[in-house]
Amino acid sequence: MTIRTVIQGVGSYLPEKVLSNAELAQKVDTSDEWIVERTGIHQRHIAADGEKTSDLAIAAVKKALAAAGRDGKDVDLFVLATATPDQTFPASAARVQAAVGRPGAPSFDVHAVCSGFVYGLAVADNFIKAGQAKCAVVVGAEVFSRILDWNDRTTCVLFGDGAGAVVLNAEDGGGTSADRGVLSTHLHSDGRYNAMLFVDGGPSTTQTAGHIRMKGKEVFRHAVVNLTEAVREALVANKVSIDDVDWLVPHQANKRILDSTAQKLGLDPAKVIVTVDRHANTSAASIPLALAAGVEDGRIKRGNLVLMEAMGGGFTWGSALVRM
Ligand code: UT7
Repeated sequence: MTIRTVIQGVGSYLPEKVLSNAELAQKVDTSDEWIVERTGIHQRHIAADGEKTSDLAIAAVKKALAAAGRDGKDVDLFVLATATPDQTFPASAARVQAAVGRPGAPSFDVHAVCSGFVYGLAVADNFIKAGQAKCAVVVGAEVFSRILDWNDRTTCVLFGDGAGAVVLNAEDGGGTSADRGVLSTHLHSDGRYNAMLFVDGGPSTTQTAGHIRMKGKEVFRHAVVNLTEAVREALVANKVSIDDVDWLVPHQANKRILDSTAQKLGLDPAKVIVTVDRHANTSAASIPLALAAGVEDGRIKRGNLVLMEAMGGGFTWGSALVRM
Protein backbone atom coordinates (compact mmCIF):
# COMPACT_ATOMS: atom_id res chain seq x y z
CA MET A 1 0.00 0.00 0.00
CA THR A 2 1.26 3.49 -0.90
CA ILE A 3 0.01 6.76 0.53
CA ARG A 4 -1.06 9.06 -2.31
CA THR A 5 -1.72 12.79 -2.21
CA VAL A 6 -4.98 13.21 -4.11
CA ILE A 7 -6.26 16.58 -5.38
CA GLN A 8 -9.79 16.76 -3.93
CA GLY A 9 -10.68 20.26 -5.07
CA VAL A 10 -9.31 23.25 -6.94
CA GLY A 11 -10.24 26.93 -6.76
CA SER A 12 -9.02 30.23 -8.11
CA TYR A 13 -9.46 33.94 -7.74
CA LEU A 14 -8.68 36.81 -10.10
CA PRO A 15 -8.94 40.48 -9.11
CA GLU A 16 -11.82 42.30 -10.77
CA LYS A 17 -9.76 44.93 -12.61
CA VAL A 18 -8.60 43.89 -16.11
CA LEU A 19 -5.77 45.79 -17.77
CA SER A 20 -5.69 45.42 -21.57
CA ASN A 21 -2.63 45.76 -23.79
CA ALA A 22 -4.22 48.85 -25.35
CA GLU A 23 -4.47 50.52 -21.93
CA LEU A 24 -0.83 49.63 -21.19
CA ALA A 25 0.23 51.13 -24.51
CA GLN A 26 -1.09 54.48 -23.26
CA LYS A 27 1.33 54.39 -20.29
CA VAL A 28 4.49 52.89 -21.80
CA ASP A 29 6.10 52.66 -25.27
CA THR A 30 4.56 49.35 -26.42
CA SER A 31 1.70 48.08 -28.57
CA ASP A 32 -0.98 45.39 -28.46
CA GLU A 33 0.57 43.95 -31.62
CA TRP A 34 4.07 43.57 -30.07
CA ILE A 35 2.77 42.04 -26.83
CA VAL A 36 0.48 39.54 -28.59
CA GLU A 37 3.10 38.52 -31.16
CA ARG A 38 5.98 38.06 -28.68
CA THR A 39 4.05 36.68 -25.68
CA GLY A 40 0.45 35.71 -26.57
CA ILE A 41 -0.78 37.98 -23.75
CA HIS A 42 -3.94 40.03 -24.40
CA GLN A 43 -4.78 41.19 -20.87
CA ARG A 44 -3.96 40.72 -17.19
CA HIS A 45 -5.81 41.17 -13.87
CA ILE A 46 -4.55 43.77 -11.39
CA ALA A 47 -5.27 43.76 -7.64
CA ALA A 48 -7.28 46.72 -6.31
CA ASP A 49 -5.67 49.25 -3.98
CA GLY A 50 -5.43 47.59 -0.57
CA GLU A 51 -6.07 44.09 -1.97
CA LYS A 52 -3.29 41.87 -0.58
CA THR A 53 -1.73 38.56 -1.62
CA SER A 54 -3.42 36.89 1.37
CA ASP A 55 -6.83 38.27 0.27
CA LEU A 56 -6.39 36.63 -3.15
CA ALA A 57 -5.14 33.42 -1.52
CA ILE A 58 -8.04 33.22 0.95
CA ALA A 59 -10.60 33.68 -1.85
CA ALA A 60 -9.00 30.87 -3.90
CA VAL A 61 -8.70 28.55 -0.89
CA LYS A 62 -12.37 29.03 0.05
CA LYS A 63 -13.39 28.00 -3.47
CA ALA A 64 -11.05 24.97 -3.43
CA LEU A 65 -12.45 23.87 -0.03
CA ALA A 66 -16.01 24.20 -1.37
CA ALA A 67 -15.10 22.20 -4.50
CA ALA A 68 -13.54 19.51 -2.28
CA GLY A 69 -16.53 19.49 0.09
CA ARG A 70 -14.14 20.13 2.99
CA ASP A 71 -14.09 22.46 5.96
CA GLY A 72 -10.95 24.53 6.54
CA LYS A 73 -10.87 23.09 10.08
CA ASP A 74 -9.99 19.69 8.50
CA VAL A 75 -6.73 21.09 7.07
CA ASP A 76 -3.50 19.92 8.79
CA LEU A 77 -1.10 22.05 6.72
CA PHE A 78 -1.26 25.34 4.81
CA VAL A 79 1.48 26.05 2.24
CA LEU A 80 1.40 29.37 0.39
CA ALA A 81 3.71 29.77 -2.60
CA THR A 82 4.47 33.43 -3.19
CA ALA A 83 7.24 35.88 -4.00
CA THR A 84 5.03 38.85 -3.09
CA PRO A 85 4.02 38.31 0.55
CA ASP A 86 1.92 40.84 2.49
CA GLN A 87 4.78 41.52 4.90
CA THR A 88 8.46 40.54 5.16
CA PHE A 89 7.22 38.46 8.08
CA PRO A 90 5.14 36.68 9.28
CA ALA A 91 4.35 34.34 6.40
CA SER A 92 1.18 35.26 4.52
CA ALA A 93 0.16 31.59 4.89
CA ALA A 94 -0.64 32.36 8.53
CA ARG A 95 -3.35 34.80 7.38
CA VAL A 96 -4.87 32.04 5.25
CA GLN A 97 -4.74 29.64 8.20
CA ALA A 98 -6.35 32.25 10.46
CA ALA A 99 -9.12 32.94 7.93
CA VAL A 100 -10.18 29.36 7.20
CA GLY A 101 -8.20 26.94 9.37
CA ARG A 102 -8.25 25.73 12.95
CA PRO A 103 -6.00 27.45 15.51
CA GLY A 104 -2.69 25.59 15.74
CA ALA A 105 -2.61 24.15 12.20
CA PRO A 106 0.87 24.74 10.73
CA SER A 107 1.34 27.26 7.93
CA PHE A 108 4.29 28.67 6.06
CA ASP A 109 5.26 30.32 2.77
CA VAL A 110 7.38 28.68 0.08
CA HIS A 111 9.45 31.04 -2.03
CA ALA A 112 10.51 29.65 -5.41
CA VAL A 113 8.99 32.42 -7.57
CA CYS A 114 7.34 30.98 -10.72
CA SER A 115 8.17 27.39 -9.64
CA GLY A 116 6.56 28.04 -6.24
CA PHE A 117 3.42 25.98 -6.81
CA VAL A 118 5.38 22.89 -7.90
CA TYR A 119 7.70 23.35 -4.90
CA GLY A 120 4.70 23.78 -2.56
CA LEU A 121 2.98 20.70 -3.98
CA ALA A 122 6.20 18.67 -3.46
CA VAL A 123 6.47 19.85 0.16
CA ALA A 124 2.83 19.03 0.96
CA ASP A 125 3.09 15.65 -0.83
CA ASN A 126 6.09 14.76 1.31
CA PHE A 127 4.31 15.82 4.54
CA ILE A 128 1.38 13.60 3.56
CA LYS A 129 3.56 10.64 2.54
CA ALA A 130 5.48 10.95 5.83
CA GLY A 131 2.18 10.76 7.74
CA GLN A 132 2.51 14.30 9.16
CA ALA A 133 -0.65 15.59 7.45
CA LYS A 134 -3.81 14.00 6.06
CA CYS A 135 -5.36 17.07 4.49
CA ALA A 136 -3.29 19.96 3.12
CA VAL A 137 -3.90 23.15 1.21
CA VAL A 138 -1.38 24.46 -1.33
CA VAL A 139 -2.10 27.89 -2.74
CA GLY A 140 -0.11 30.02 -5.17
CA ALA A 141 -0.91 33.74 -4.86
CA GLU A 142 0.85 36.80 -6.24
CA VAL A 143 0.48 40.54 -6.71
CA PHE A 144 3.35 41.10 -9.11
CA SER A 145 1.78 44.44 -10.08
CA ARG A 146 3.34 45.79 -6.85
CA ILE A 147 6.93 44.86 -7.84
CA LEU A 148 6.78 45.94 -11.48
CA ASP A 149 8.64 48.96 -12.78
CA TRP A 150 5.76 50.45 -14.76
CA ASN A 151 8.26 52.46 -16.85
CA ASP A 152 10.12 49.31 -17.98
CA ARG A 153 8.31 48.01 -21.06
CA THR A 154 10.46 44.86 -21.15
CA THR A 155 8.86 43.56 -17.93
CA CYS A 156 5.67 45.48 -17.05
CA VAL A 157 3.68 44.01 -19.96
CA LEU A 158 4.37 40.42 -18.91
CA PHE A 159 2.85 39.93 -15.46
CA GLY A 160 -0.50 39.89 -13.68
CA ASP A 161 -2.09 39.17 -10.28
CA GLY A 162 -4.12 36.16 -9.14
CA ALA A 163 -4.35 33.06 -6.96
CA GLY A 164 -5.08 29.35 -7.35
CA ALA A 165 -5.40 26.63 -4.72
CA VAL A 166 -5.73 22.89 -4.30
CA VAL A 167 -7.03 20.80 -1.40
CA LEU A 168 -4.99 17.63 -0.98
CA ASN A 169 -6.07 14.48 0.80
CA ALA A 170 -4.17 11.33 1.83
CA GLU A 171 -5.58 8.23 0.17
CA ASP A 172 -4.39 4.65 -0.27
CA GLY A 173 -2.91 3.69 -3.63
CA GLY A 174 -1.45 0.62 -5.24
CA GLY A 175 1.95 2.18 -5.97
CA THR A 176 1.53 2.32 -9.76
CA SER A 177 0.95 5.14 -12.25
CA ALA A 178 -2.71 4.05 -12.35
CA ASP A 179 -3.16 5.52 -8.82
CA ARG A 180 -4.95 8.82 -8.35
CA GLY A 181 -2.80 11.52 -6.77
CA VAL A 182 0.68 12.97 -7.03
CA LEU A 183 2.79 10.33 -8.78
CA SER A 184 6.07 12.27 -8.69
CA THR A 185 7.64 15.66 -8.16
CA HIS A 186 11.10 16.72 -9.40
CA LEU A 187 12.63 19.98 -8.18
CA HIS A 188 15.78 21.83 -9.28
CA SER A 189 17.61 25.11 -8.82
CA ASP A 190 20.80 26.77 -10.03
CA GLY A 191 21.66 29.96 -8.15
CA ARG A 192 24.39 30.89 -10.60
CA TYR A 193 21.67 32.42 -12.75
CA ASN A 194 20.45 34.93 -10.14
CA ALA A 195 21.26 37.93 -12.36
CA MET A 196 19.04 36.70 -15.22
CA LEU A 197 15.79 37.19 -13.30
CA PHE A 198 15.63 38.94 -9.94
CA VAL A 199 14.12 41.75 -7.88
CA ASP A 200 16.50 44.60 -7.13
CA GLY A 201 15.47 45.02 -3.50
CA GLY A 202 14.95 43.15 -0.25
CA PRO A 203 15.11 43.43 3.55
CA SER A 204 18.81 42.51 3.87
CA THR A 205 20.02 44.64 0.96
CA THR A 206 18.05 47.80 0.16
CA GLN A 207 15.31 47.53 2.83
CA THR A 208 12.82 48.06 -0.01
CA ALA A 209 10.61 45.63 -1.94
CA GLY A 210 12.38 46.43 -5.24
CA HIS A 211 11.38 45.83 -8.88
CA ILE A 212 11.66 42.90 -11.29
CA ARG A 213 14.67 42.85 -13.64
CA MET A 214 14.98 40.22 -16.36
CA LYS A 215 17.18 39.26 -19.27
CA GLY A 216 14.23 37.91 -21.21
CA LYS A 217 16.03 36.22 -24.10
CA GLU A 218 18.38 34.24 -21.82
CA VAL A 219 15.52 33.22 -19.52
CA PHE A 220 13.51 32.08 -22.53
CA ARG A 221 16.38 29.90 -23.77
CA HIS A 222 16.97 28.26 -20.37
CA ALA A 223 13.22 27.81 -19.82
CA VAL A 224 12.66 25.64 -22.90
CA VAL A 225 15.68 23.42 -22.11
CA ASN A 226 14.97 23.07 -18.36
CA LEU A 227 11.23 22.51 -18.75
CA THR A 228 11.69 19.84 -21.38
CA GLU A 229 14.20 18.07 -19.13
CA ALA A 230 11.93 18.27 -16.06
CA VAL A 231 9.07 16.77 -18.08
CA ARG A 232 11.27 13.92 -19.35
CA GLU A 233 12.33 13.16 -15.75
CA ALA A 234 8.68 12.84 -14.71
CA LEU A 235 7.85 10.53 -17.64
CA VAL A 236 10.87 8.27 -17.04
CA ALA A 237 10.29 8.07 -13.26
CA ASN A 238 6.71 6.90 -13.83
CA LYS A 239 7.40 4.72 -16.89
CA VAL A 240 4.82 6.60 -18.96
CA SER A 241 5.13 8.20 -22.38
CA ILE A 242 4.17 11.69 -23.51
CA ASP A 243 1.18 10.11 -25.31
CA ASP A 244 -0.15 8.91 -21.93
CA VAL A 245 -0.38 12.51 -20.71
CA ASP A 246 -3.92 13.89 -21.00
CA TRP A 247 -3.10 17.51 -20.13
CA LEU A 248 0.01 19.64 -19.82
CA VAL A 249 -0.64 22.39 -17.25
CA PRO A 250 2.48 24.53 -17.58
CA HIS A 251 3.61 27.69 -15.86
CA GLN A 252 2.22 30.45 -18.06
CA ALA A 253 5.05 32.86 -18.93
CA ASN A 254 4.89 33.16 -22.69
CA LYS A 255 2.79 31.39 -25.32
CA ARG A 256 5.93 30.90 -27.40
CA ILE A 257 7.58 29.00 -24.50
CA LEU A 258 4.47 26.78 -24.22
CA ASP A 259 4.52 26.10 -27.97
CA SER A 260 8.29 25.40 -28.09
CA THR A 261 8.14 23.06 -25.10
CA ALA A 262 5.15 21.13 -26.51
CA GLN A 263 6.90 20.85 -29.87
CA LYS A 264 10.17 19.61 -28.31
CA LEU A 265 8.22 17.00 -26.34
CA GLY A 266 6.15 15.89 -29.34
CA LEU A 267 2.96 16.79 -27.45
CA ASP A 268 -0.26 17.68 -29.28
CA PRO A 269 -0.74 21.46 -28.65
CA ALA A 270 -4.46 20.78 -28.08
CA LYS A 271 -3.44 19.04 -24.82
CA VAL A 272 -1.87 22.20 -23.38
CA ILE A 273 -3.99 24.32 -21.01
CA VAL A 274 -3.34 27.94 -21.95
CA THR A 275 -4.35 30.90 -19.78
CA VAL A 276 -1.42 33.25 -20.44
CA ASP A 277 -3.57 35.11 -22.99
CA ARG A 278 -6.04 36.19 -20.27
CA HIS A 279 -3.95 36.10 -17.05
CA ALA A 280 -0.40 36.93 -18.28
CA ASN A 281 2.36 35.55 -16.03
CA THR A 282 1.06 35.24 -12.46
CA SER A 283 4.20 33.49 -11.16
CA ALA A 284 3.36 30.90 -8.44
CA ALA A 285 -0.37 31.33 -9.14
CA SER A 286 -0.23 30.45 -12.82
CA ILE A 287 -0.31 26.64 -12.62
CA PRO A 288 -3.21 26.37 -10.13
CA LEU A 289 -5.09 29.10 -12.05
CA ALA A 290 -4.68 27.08 -15.26
CA LEU A 291 -5.57 23.84 -13.46
CA ALA A 292 -8.74 25.44 -12.10
CA ALA A 293 -9.64 26.75 -15.56
CA GLY A 294 -9.27 23.26 -17.06
CA VAL A 295 -11.24 21.55 -14.27
CA GLU A 296 -14.01 24.15 -14.17
CA ASP A 297 -14.65 24.09 -17.95
CA GLY A 298 -14.75 20.28 -17.87
CA ARG A 299 -11.64 19.55 -19.93
CA ILE A 300 -9.66 18.02 -17.04
CA LYS A 301 -11.58 15.06 -15.65
CA ARG A 302 -11.14 12.60 -12.79
CA GLY A 303 -8.58 9.96 -13.78
CA ASN A 304 -6.78 12.22 -16.29
CA LEU A 305 -2.97 12.27 -16.21
CA VAL A 306 -1.85 15.87 -15.72
CA LEU A 307 1.72 17.06 -16.11
CA MET A 308 2.72 20.35 -14.48
CA GLU A 309 6.02 22.14 -15.11
CA ALA A 310 7.48 25.49 -14.12
CA MET A 311 10.62 27.57 -14.31
CA GLY A 312 11.43 30.85 -12.63
CA GLY A 313 13.84 33.12 -10.81
CA GLY A 314 16.70 31.45 -8.99
CA PHE A 315 16.76 29.73 -11.42
CA THR A 316 14.28 27.23 -10.02
CA TRP A 317 12.40 24.67 -12.06
CA GLY A 318 10.55 21.40 -11.70
CA SER A 319 7.67 19.14 -12.65
CA ALA A 320 4.82 17.23 -11.04
CA LEU A 321 2.89 14.33 -12.54
CA VAL A 322 -0.58 13.96 -11.05
CA ARG A 323 -3.52 11.68 -11.77
CA MET A 324 -6.70 13.65 -11.04
O1 UT7 B 1 8.15 33.32 -15.38
C1 UT7 B 1 9.55 33.35 -15.32
C2 UT7 B 1 10.11 33.03 -16.61
N1 UT7 B 1 10.05 34.17 -17.50
C3 UT7 B 1 10.05 33.93 -18.77
O2 UT7 B 1 10.01 32.79 -19.14
C4 UT7 B 1 10.18 35.07 -19.75
C5 UT7 B 1 11.06 34.64 -20.88
N2 UT7 B 1 11.29 35.63 -21.91
C6 UT7 B 1 10.34 36.06 -22.76
O3 UT7 B 1 9.20 35.69 -22.65
C7 UT7 B 1 10.76 36.94 -23.92
O4 UT7 B 1 12.16 36.97 -23.99
C8 UT7 B 1 10.22 38.39 -23.79
C9 UT7 B 1 8.72 38.39 -24.05
C10 UT7 B 1 10.51 38.95 -22.42
C11 UT7 B 1 10.88 39.28 -24.85
O5 UT7 B 1 10.68 38.76 -26.14
P1 UT7 B 1 11.91 38.70 -27.18
O6 UT7 B 1 11.37 38.19 -28.45
O7 UT7 B 1 13.00 37.91 -26.51
O8 UT7 B 1 12.27 40.21 -27.37
P2 UT7 B 1 13.64 40.97 -27.04
O9 UT7 B 1 13.85 41.08 -25.59
O10 UT7 B 1 14.74 40.39 -27.88
O11 UT7 B 1 13.31 42.40 -27.63
C12 UT7 B 1 13.11 42.61 -29.04
C13 UT7 B 1 12.84 44.08 -29.29
C14 UT7 B 1 13.86 45.00 -28.62
O12 UT7 B 1 14.07 46.10 -29.48
P3 UT7 B 1 15.40 46.17 -30.40
O13 UT7 B 1 16.56 46.12 -29.43
O14 UT7 B 1 15.33 44.97 -31.28
O15 UT7 B 1 15.25 47.46 -31.10
C15 UT7 B 1 13.15 45.47 -27.38
O16 UT7 B 1 13.60 46.73 -26.95
O17 UT7 B 1 11.56 44.42 -28.70
C16 UT7 B 1 11.73 45.56 -27.84
N3 UT7 B 1 10.76 45.45 -26.77
C17 UT7 B 1 9.52 45.92 -26.86
N4 UT7 B 1 8.87 46.58 -27.84
C18 UT7 B 1 7.59 46.93 -27.63
C19 UT7 B 1 10.91 44.85 -25.56
N5 UT7 B 1 9.78 44.94 -24.86
C20 UT7 B 1 8.90 45.60 -25.64
C21 UT7 B 1 7.55 45.99 -25.47
N6 UT7 B 1 6.95 46.64 -26.48
N7 UT7 B 1 6.86 45.73 -24.35
